[in-house]
Amino acid sequence: TLLGTVLFLLVLYLHSSGSNSEEQGKEPPGPRPLPLLGNMLQLDLKKPYHTLCELSKKYGSIFTVHFGPKKVVVLAGYKTVKQALVNQAEDFGDRDITPVFYEFSQGHGILFANGDSWKEMRRFALTNLRDFGMGKKGSEEKILEEIHYLIEVLEKHEGKAFDTTQPVIYAVSNIISAIVYGSRFEYTDPLFTGMADRANESMYLTGTASAQMYNMFPWLGPWVNNLTRLKKNIADMKMDVTELVRGLKETLNPQMCRGFVDSFLVRKQTLEESGNMDSLYHDDNLVISVTNLFGAGTDTTGTTLRWGLLLMAKYPHIQDQVQEEISRVIGSRQPLVEDRKNLPYTDAVIHETQRLANIVPMAIPHTTSRDVTFQGYFIKKGTSVIPLLTSVLQDDSEWESPHTFTPSHFLDEHGGFVKRDAFMAFSAGHRVCLGEGLARMELFLFFTSLLQRFRFSPPPGVTEDDLDLTPSVGFTLNPSPHQLCAVSRL
Ligand code: HEM
Repeated sequence: TLLGTVLFLLVLYLHSSGSNSEEQGKEPPGPRPLPLLGNMLQLDLKKPYHTLCELSKKYGSIFTVHFGPKKVVVLAGYKTVKQALVNQAEDFGDRDITPVFYEFSQGHGILFANGDSWKEMRRFALTNLRDFGMGKKGSEEKILEEIHYLIEVLEKHEGKAFDTTQPVIYAVSNIISAIVYGSRFEYTDPLFTGMADRANESMYLTGTASAQMYNMFPWLGPWVNNLTRLKKNIADMKMDVTELVRGLKETLNPQMCRGFVDSFLVRKQTLEESGNMDSLYHDDNLVISVTNLFGAGTDTTGTTLRWGLLLMAKYPHIQDQVQEEISRVIGSRQPLVEDRKNLPYTDAVIHETQRLANIVPMAIPHTTSRDVTFQGYFIKKGTSVIPLLTSVLQDDSEWESPHTFTPSHFLDEHGGFVKRDAFMAFSAGHRVCLGEGLARMELFLFFTSLLQRFRFSPPPGVTEDDLDLTPSVGFTLNPSPHQLCAVSRL
């Protein structure tokens, strides 16, 4: 039976690899896959983005690799990624809903969804981020309020070494809470800490080698390390959101929406009252969109901010210049969004932090929405596509010093801030990060406010050189475990 199965798989494999007929054009090149295993022996599943960058040196800016039996087209370098995601946005704009992503969403929500439902949920979330977060004074005020709580927590450490993870994650999580639920939580509230910790852990588990194995061989499910834990986390997150939504439903006032959830419930009610019983505004889309906003908006922003603080401790002369600029331009009053244009060096440091930290190295996988011809190659509808953002943010034809922390990448010869097209930390095109505006505002306000108040340095006995920039790889690239001192500058 075993021999029969192997032969069957081999025939299937040979058939599928030969199914690309001549008239359709040739597939992007790539290393020859082994049956079933694909190119797994060449891919370091603990750091796949790294291997893919290496492979692009050999196969060019578009190539095919096989993650086990799954064929994936990789796009590398600024020009190619831009051409696909921006110039052929429709062709490359669908999401690849892998088995792990399916666990999160069952196809609902924003992050791991496609088609009309995705389009409507994305549009609705964007409008609400504008109404309850962006635009007006909305989110600036929410962020400024949260900064005071974060500063209080850091002050309690009295300059002694501490791990920045929890305070930063809780603070950024509260910004999403304020936008989604209409209010922040106390940092000691067990419901809140439970939700934030679970979301953070789930992000990590989603990016592990075991999760990749599950994506390649879903039938391995029961034996995949940590899958049960991830499933439990997801179920608990959904239960918490459902409970919070229930509470908001009871106190809903359609004339005074407090946040995203209220606004969704009102829309749902209005559609139901007008007899539309099968609209897209159903409970699954609500709960999963909320978990998506927390999942995509918390770990990303928090991790970037933590990279920023770590880089300041590692490069004190750069921290000096940031603090000199803040003192000169703002003094001791609260930094505001409108100050950004007068703080070009600080702005450059934040952009350079995002570029070097490269926290979403492979974006989130896309698929082709139709058969596509791209740079002379044929890519079949439904093929998984990885826009390799690392290869854009570290493209050596775009950046003078791609692998070092060089804020001057974003400065002109007069010290003015320069926008760079190859800065694609938020990706581009149809699936560009939905929270980009909010994230930029948060990063600027949190970073300048913290740097204004504190001097960040390594713990006693640790030198700047000792601070390790090797990332800990999950779904996002996090700083490896470390502690910092935040010494009050007042
Ligand atoms: C998608 C980066 C903050 C919500 C993405 C993607 C990237 C990204 C690379 C994938 C784009 C693609 O598929 O090509 C970042 C970074 C952030 C950040 C670096 C912070 C520094 C946020 C925040 C929110 C958010 C604050 C929520 C308010 C989303 C959502 C998607 C997304 C919902 C999915 C969009 C879709 O599939 O249509 N983000 N993000 N992100 N982000 Fe962000």
